[in-house]
Amino acid sequence: MDRKEAENRITQLRGLIDRHNYLYFVENIPEIGDGQYDKLMSELRGLENSFPDLITNQSPTQRVGAEPLIGFSEISHEIPMLSLSNAFSNDDLTAWYHRLYAMLDDTNFEMACELKYDGLAVSLRYENGLFIQGATRGNGITGEDITLNLKTINSIPLRLQGEFPQTLEVRGEVYFPKSEFDKFNARRDQEGLQTYANPRNTAAGSLRQLDSNVTAGRPLDIFIYSLAQIDSGHGLDTQLETLNYLKSLGFKINPNNILAKNTQEVIEYHTNWIQNLVSLDYDCDGIVVKVNRLDYQQHLGTIGREPRWATAYKFPAVQAQTRLLDIKLNVGRTGSINPYAILEPVEVGGVIIKQATLHNTDYIDSKDLKIGDWVVVERAGEVIPQIVKSHKDKRTGSETYFSMPSLCPSCSAKLVNREDEAATFCTNSTCPAQLERLVEHFVSKSAMDIEGMGGKVGISLIQSGLIKDVADIYFLQREKLEQLDRMGKKSVDNLLIAIKESKKR
Ligand code: IVH
Repeated sequence: MDRKEAENRITQLRGLIDRHNYLYFVENIPEIGDGQYDKLMSELRGLENSFPDLITNQSPTQRVGAEPLIGFSEISHEIPMLSLSNAFSNDDLTAWYHRLYAMLDDTNFEMACELKYDGLAVSLRYENGLFIQGATRGNGITGEDITLNLKTINSIPLRLQGEFPQTLEVRGEVYFPKSEFDKFNARRDQEGLQTYANPRNTAAGSLRQLDSNVTAGRPLDIFIYSLAQIDSGHGLDTQLETLNYLKSLGFKINPNNILAKNTQEVIEYHTNWIQNLVSLDYDCDGIVVKVNRLDYQQHLGTIGREPRWATAYKFPAVQAQTRLLDIKLNVGRTGSINPYAILEPVEVGGVIIKQATLHNTDYIDSKDLKIGDWVVVERAGEVIPQIVKSHKDKRTGSETYFSMPSLCPSCSAKLVNREDEAATFCTNSTCPAQLERLVEHFVSKSAMDIEGMGGKVGISLIQSGLIKDVADIYFLQREKLEQLDRMGKKSVDNLLIAIKESKKR
């Protein structure tokens, strides 16, 4: 292929890949499979290898692979990144509305209601339709240049679609999807690495990696919520029109934004989301209410670092107090010993909580937890409950410190702490509890997907000595299986078929 032909094909491939990337990561309606997508990518990589001078910064091949940085450089935000005032009650919200209508001389202005995503604010700059720079919020006036890390986020367009403006700066919130966070932690646990406490801090840590290849291994996502700068008149009159326009350029906009005609509708939106937060794959700590008309926003302006035209109506953090009755231990599949709290059952936001994860001894020490303590537990949109703190003032003297035993609670082998790691490990590679976790993971949907072998069946196979190692699963015999409790002929048939099927994976 000559250079001219290669150039044409490269342009065509980039167009196709950007389009399929958009359909997959932004719209969530893929038109082609992974295999076809990979084929387009490898063809593009091949051509770029043959003609390296045709590589551009915004080629889809350039999302990953950049050299690690020595440090981040500073970026000053031409338009400052503001904070928001807060409302904590319906009265606060109504008071805010009344203050504004006095200033606007309009008692009936409409508001855009959005969710308040609990991630990290970033700013993205585009010139001639190309993503050229991305920054953290920093102190609002200056932030850090994290362009390379942001390029790894597939839902951030490297090139804009449609009729794009010459210069554009948008703002949005980067987050770690909850489902991906759980998988990520499970994988770390499997590799014997320390697990992370929550998606927000992990997203923050991921964006501050000097090596963008590390960031690329974290499936971060983004919602764009505002326009900071645009070259000129695009006929935008309201916040919601602006978001629709940004959507047409290829940005990922949250689908749950609404227009509220009055405070009553805002309150309904707020109440409704308190009840439905668990259905979302990202954490939110409230809603953001914005005056919809942009000329009104302009007129209202900002006081200090906060715009008058917007406010965050926070969700009540669902907390409760209870007793920390005991600290027990789980053995993970890599042998990591994971402490967890046994709590006096308590209702937190409609759910009864009896346990909370404690991660490792460092975590217990950092919260200064003693068995017998009164503790505050919280579910903040997250599904996994956390212990926020202990009430030291309520101690009676009968509380006791937890200490990590020296022997494995399952097999009594010696426990060790590896250097520079908070987690404690069981040293016995044939520890039965480890094997249970390992089998549980091995047969799970995301691994070999052997239906009927999770939970009790797996444990009974280990306890009866039929499985001493995951490989034994493939040598199970019908006669032995039929001798197990609660294993009829039909269950054995199904199990053997599921095992056979799994060999294809
Ligand atoms: S608008 C001038 N909209 O909340 C208004 N912010 O406390 C600036 N946030 O740093 C923000 N979701 O990172 C806006 N739908 C949303 C938001 C949102 C989350 C964050 C944002 C900002 C912080 C302000």
